[in-house]
Amino acid sequence: MQFDFTELEPESRYRLLTNFIGPRPIALVTTRSSAGQNNAAPMSFFNVFSHDPPILILGVQPRLSGEEKDTIVNIRRTGEFVVNMVDMAISQQMLVCGLGFDSEVDELEMAGLEAMQCNQIDANYVASAPCALECRVERLIEFPRRVLVLGEVVHMHVRRDCLDAEGRYVNPGVYQPIARLHADNYITSDRQFVLEPPSITDFIKSRRD
Ligand SMILES: Cc1cc2nc3c(=O)[nH]c(=O)nc-3n(C[C@H](O)[C@H](O)[C@H](O)COP(=O)(O)O)c2cc1C
Repeated sequence: MQFDFTELEPESRYRLLTNFIGPRPIALVTTRSSAGQNNAAPMSFFNVFSHDPPILILGVQPRLSGEEKDTIVNIRRTGEFVVNMVDMAISQQMLVCGLGFDSEVDELEMAGLEAMQCNQIDANYVASAPCALECRVERLIEFPRRVLVLGEVVHMHVRRDCLDAEGRYVNPGVYQPIARLHADNYITSDRQFVLEPPSITDFIKSRRD
């Protein structure tokens, strides 16, 4: 089947893009409200795009009412946010944070997630998250119905058991983030495998043989 995106309505674009571009990692984004409360919301329009500078991107759409979500209201005001990565252990809590609570509700408290003060920004991160990345807004790219948030990572918390003994590389037996597929379907990273490229000389030789 062919789909002309220049003709498609937004609902079909959303369905096709999110059904086929995945798994998408999930950022549980924590921010500080104007009243000083925690706000938390999951975002799967999310990924890392650069390490030098270290840039993450979030795509935040308005609510159906057209109002901006608390996450973007807080990010605009403070210029700061945290990306907490999500594993199976906090998957249900992540879903609770995604419910449409009123702005004054502390979703971390609602979900039963312990909050810890960040090192370099004025926000809290999720204590039990396998890792959390403190970010400052690098720039906002505004579209009529979407804001792309480019965040520069200024600090990272990694739970000790998610790293190897030397504290350098990830421990894949422990760090198994979940990711979003289509609709309410998710996947966890518990079937990891090694895929090593052949050497270019061996590859060229094998084509000759
Ligand atoms: C797994 C998951 C991924 C989501 N991804 C996004 C996203 O990328 N962008 C977005 O605007 N909303 C996304 N949402 C919906 C928001 O989390 C939801 O609207 C939330 O209530 C917003 O909260 P806030 O008003 O506190 O920011 C997602 C929800 C879930 C459960």
